[in-house]
Amino acid sequence: MRAFVYERYGPPENLRLAEVDRPVPAAGEVLVKVLAASVNAADWHVLRGKPLFSRATLGLLRPKHRILGVDIAGQVEVVGGGVSGFQPGDQVYANLLDHGYGGFAEYATVPVGVMAPKPANLSFEEAAAVPMAAVTALQGLGRHGPLQPGQTVLINGGSGGVGSFAVQLAKAAGAEVTAVTSTPNLEVVRSLGADHLVDYTTTDVAAGGRRYDRILDTVGNRSVAELKGALADGGKAAVTGFTSVGRLLAVSLRGGKDIAQVQAHVTTEDLERLSELIEAGRVRPRIDRRYRFADLPAAIAYLEQGHARAKVVVEVP
Ligand SMILES: NC(=O)c1ccc[n+]([C@@H]2O[C@H](COP(=O)([O-])OP(=O)(O)OC[C@H]3O[C@@H](n4cnc5c(N)ncnc54)[C@H](OP(=O)(O)O)[C@@H]3O)[C@@H](O)[C@H]2O)c1
Repeated sequence: MRAFVYERYGPPENLRLAEVDRPVPAAGEVLVKVLAASVNAADWHVLRGKPLFSRATLGLLRPKHRILGVDIAGQVEVVGGGVSGFQPGDQVYANLLDHGYGGFAEYATVPVGVMAPKPANLSFEEAAAVPMAAVTALQGLGRHGPLQPGQTVLINGGSGGVGSFAVQLAKAAGAEVTAVTSTPNLEVVRSLGADHLVDYTTTDVAAGGRRYDRILDTVGNRSVAELKGALADGGKAAVTGFTSVGRLLAVSLRGGKDIAQVQAHVTTEDLERLSELIEAGRVRPRIDRRYRFADLPAAIAYLEQGHARAKVVVEVP
């Protein structure tokens, strides 16, 4: 099969399209014929081996995983031992972040615990846009318990992959949503359902004096003091984004019980919950750009600039 491989940390140009062996599903896994993938910040972090401390698990001198790619949608081709509930031909979507990556290939093995039937009303490309970003939004918003109707929620970074789902999920829960974005993205974020918009190029949301029941910081560029200052009494914040090791440590060490750094782990249960919302028409992935498989390095380079308007997807032949 064809797959993008890389042998050393570096820029997207290090990815090389190569002929490799098709993987064989182990017990509890299925082999999926990948028909679409989406790119995530995780892809360029792992490609570059940054932040440096991540190489302790990714491989100190060279990458342990030759094939990247976490979000996929496709068709079950082969079912491994002990798998019930899936059969060849089933249309599925999945996330491989916790299972050794491997999505930027024509076939990938997928443990059934991180996979679900594809939402019926989405194309493969749209479905591939969902897992990492939407589950991160879901787990971030739910970190301190389910949102209640009428709660005020601030989403920092409303136009990104995670933010575009977070705005829709918070609205679907009945919250009053304020989203922070930049001037070119104001209309996009409004169209996702945000009630109020803050343009970070002209206004500092932390200095505005407004306070929120919940904050989801998908960017990770605010200090603990700024987040605390924007929380209403009893309010809670979750940070899923990452801009520097210093900020990450500050939130982790000084966030206390009200401000949590959240690392998402995709589960079938979360994917099924998202499928319900998607099939009910309450949430829909927004696709910014589509790339051909051969142009995957360009897709990652575009995302790495940090200003994608929601999701970037790749069609796999
Ligand atoms: N914790 C986890 O499990 C997890 C999972 C997924 C992602 N992440 C992390 O979360 C972050 C975001 O991921 P993503 O997939 O949403 O990335 P993305 O699609 O690249 O989006 C980044 C967004 O950040 C916005 N942004 C940049 N500077 C901003 C600022 N000063 N204020 C407000 N918004 C700003 C950009 O909007 P403009 O174009 O308007 O600037 C863009 O829409 C990344 O750091 C990623 O590593 C963490």
